[in-house]
Amino acid sequence: GATPANGINRNNAPLDRVRSDSAEQRLSSNQGVPIGDNQNSLKAGIRGPTLLEDFLLREKITHFDHERIPERVVHARGSAAHGFFEAYDDLSEFTIAAPFRSAGKITPVFARFSTVAGERGSADTARDVRGFAVKFYTDDGNWDLVGNNMPVFFIQDAIKFPDLVHALKPEPHHAMPQASSAHDTYWDFVSLMPESTHMLLWQMSDRAIPRSYRTMQGFGVHTFRLINRAGDAMFCKFHWNPMAGTHSLVWDEAAKLMGADPDFHRRDLWEAIEQGAYPQWELGLQLFTEAQAESWGFDVLDATKLIPEEMVPVRPVGRMTLHRNPDNFFAETEQVAFCAAHIIPGIDFSNDPLLQGRIHSYIDTQISRLGGPNFHEIPINSPVSQVHNNQRDGMHRQAIHRGRVSYEPNSLGGGCPYQAGHQGYASFAENVSGDKLRSKPEQFAEHYAQARLFYDSQTADEQRHIIDAFRFELSKVQIPAVRTRVLANLSNVDPALAAAIADGLGMAVPPPSPVAGLTETPVYPASPALSLTAR
Ligand code: HEM
Repeated sequence: GATPANGINRNNAPLDRVRSDSAEQRLSSNQGVPIGDNQNSLKAGIRGPTLLEDFLLREKITHFDHERIPERVVHARGSAAHGFFEAYDDLSEFTIAAPFRSAGKITPVFARFSTVAGERGSADTARDVRGFAVKFYTDDGNWDLVGNNMPVFFIQDAIKFPDLVHALKPEPHHAMPQASSAHDTYWDFVSLMPESTHMLLWQMSDRAIPRSYRTMQGFGVHTFRLINRAGDAMFCKFHWNPMAGTHSLVWDEAAKLMGADPDFHRRDLWEAIEQGAYPQWELGLQLFTEAQAESWGFDVLDATKLIPEEMVPVRPVGRMTLHRNPDNFFAETEQVAFCAAHIIPGIDFSNDPLLQGRIHSYIDTQISRLGGPNFHEIPINSPVSQVHNNQRDGMHRQAIHRGRVSYEPNSLGGGCPYQAGHQGYASFAENVSGDKLRSKPEQFAEHYAQARLFYDSQTADEQRHIIDAFRFELSKVQIPAVRTRVLANLSNVDPALAAAIADGLGMAVPPPSPVAGLTETPVYPASPALSLTAR
């Protein structure tokens, strides 16, 4: 009963147009010329050289030579599936966003899960953050919720992202390690960036070795805005909760699986869907006002902080079901282009400086990854709502635009689209003023209170796993000063945690690193056991 017919049809109908099935069809060239012999090239004499004029051989080889495209600069390794989102309620009190327009509303989706650091062929169970990207094909255009399986991030400002990724990726001289955080450059960087401490705790926890994509949470991470018909806005954090519960591997399992079955998560997702055990996630919202946010002592524009659920409960608003595997990995999973800038009426960004940089990055990278500015026409990326504008030409243009008018204003008419006016996308009318400067709010300087909250929320076994993971990873780090800096930062989270790791490494515990003094200290709930999300 979880797959209403319209949920299936509305997603697949647009793609059926381009689905190709060659069974019982005559073999042909790309020009449609029938091919009689696909075994032998054209030669001068029975043992002679191959002729340059063999256009069938050349077309086949030439196409093959260009089969590969660049892999994603991050999140290269991933798996995806089609499905649908079903809203529980009419949320028009908060937002005009199409998926939440009425109770029971169905929106087709395509979701891709990924590791971050590993290359396209790397193992699924590496210790890493997982991407959790969902494309909603809504009535008002595509909305991409491009999240991760952890609610916080390593850095606060997009300008540090290339540094983070350069430190995290295989080292440039010998290209090792392929898919792991266990190396000098990574730990060097994070040791010098204490803002990464909270995320490091998550990354060394069991959350970084999920049992399955089906048992992972997802988070939009940043604060977004929801906007209603009157133009009123609420701040919002997005949460995906797996209906199957959140489950992890233990490190020994993960390490063994990397060798025994590098496709472990890919296979698990594929087989579950083939067998009709459709994975499901509930979407939840943390909704809060700007005034509430101002009273918390941490900044909701800081992506290294979450909002404990005791402070703002998560309201369930709908459910995603993945019920159909892709027909072709390249056409769908590889060519899908998620983008943090893809929002729809009723949803807006916040001024989170990490999010602001992401708005630029995705389209930019996809122009080179997918060969020019028209990748929105690739079937998996094209919206189900109509596309009409005066953008023209460019590599690989598919649409055939008619008429001579592709500019505005014009007096010639002839098929020019009209502006949607009040039905069009409207940004939240935020009042903004200030000096132009490269700086950050004072509260961005506090890095340890939420890391402690997370560590305290873990059971004794889970804390043990975190200690073991730090010991293992840091034991691979060659430079003693780097280990010392990591431990000095961790001493600010919990001296016993730092001491336990140091003990495993045979090191003395260094004094804690200097801590920024805030005029106002953040206040968190006394009992952190529920602060994160249901386990
Ligand atoms: C993929 C940039 C932070 C989630 C990517 C890609 C780029 C990128 C260039 C490859 C896209 C492609 O080739 O299609 C950035 C920048 C960031 C940032 C510049 C910070 C300034 C984040 C954060 C999250 C995130 C905070 C999670 C909230 C993802 C996901 C993908 C991705 C899930 C994979 C999408 C897919 O499955 O195709 N990112 N990213 N990124 N990013 Fe980010």
